[in-house]
Amino acid sequence: MKVIELKHPLVEHKLAILRDKKTGTKEFREIISELATILCYEAMKDAKTYETEIETPIRKMITHKINENHYAFIPILRAGTGMLDGIINVIPNAKIGHIGMYRDEETFKPNVYFFKVPKDIEKREAIILDPMLATGGSALDAIELLKKEGVKKIKFLCIIAAPEGIKKLEEEHPDVEIYCAAIDEKLNENAYIVPGLGDAGDRIFGTK
Ligand code: PRP
Ligand code: URA
Repeated sequence: MKVIELKHPLVEHKLAILRDKKTGTKEFREIISELATILCYEAMKDAKTYETEIETPIRKMITHKINENHYAFIPILRAGTGMLDGIINVIPNAKIGHIGMYRDEETFKPNVYFFKVPKDIEKREAIILDPMLATGGSALDAIELLKKEGVKKIKFLCIIAAPEGIKKLEEEHPDVEIYCAAIDEKLNENAYIVPGLGDAGDRIFGTK
């Protein structure tokens, strides 16, 4: 299974700010969005391009573009929407689907409450967005819902991944590629990532 961890001093620097409990909502949101952009560049390294002719101020040239319609970005509500700005900055015509789910606080199992994706989703590569891959339960459900719709190529973009979540996806969906800014140590007894950054949704939306 392909698991890509961004390894860059600037990414580490941004992560240090993000993880710090003293970092406020504004800066937290900005960094989530910035890291989502970098993850998007990395995940789209294999994007197919087509030739097109343009004219620079100097002369005509043959250059390359991607077809933005080949993709659908699917944030998992709520926290995944915090990554959307960073994606739309680079893929302004991106089609967006939403999967609403929350983890039950006792069982840590995800509950799906909303599912709306582009009509022709089966023809697109689906790029799931969620800052946290913890037990992997939410990612697993999202992947299964998309595969049921006929999606053949899926990538999962997150800010922090736990080894437990990676292992679960590896076992169940080895075809799905994971892109993350960091792979952390483990989960704690409440299924939070250690050292992690706390509750991503609450920190993005300022709900705690
Ligand atoms: C968080 C996070 C993931 C999920 C990860 O969402 O954004 O969706 O938990 O955990 P898992 O890998 O163990 O499933 P949460 O349920 O807190 O909802 P929220 O985005 O509304 O805060
Ligand atoms: N969800 C979060 O927001 N943070 C974690 O550490 C685990 C799941």
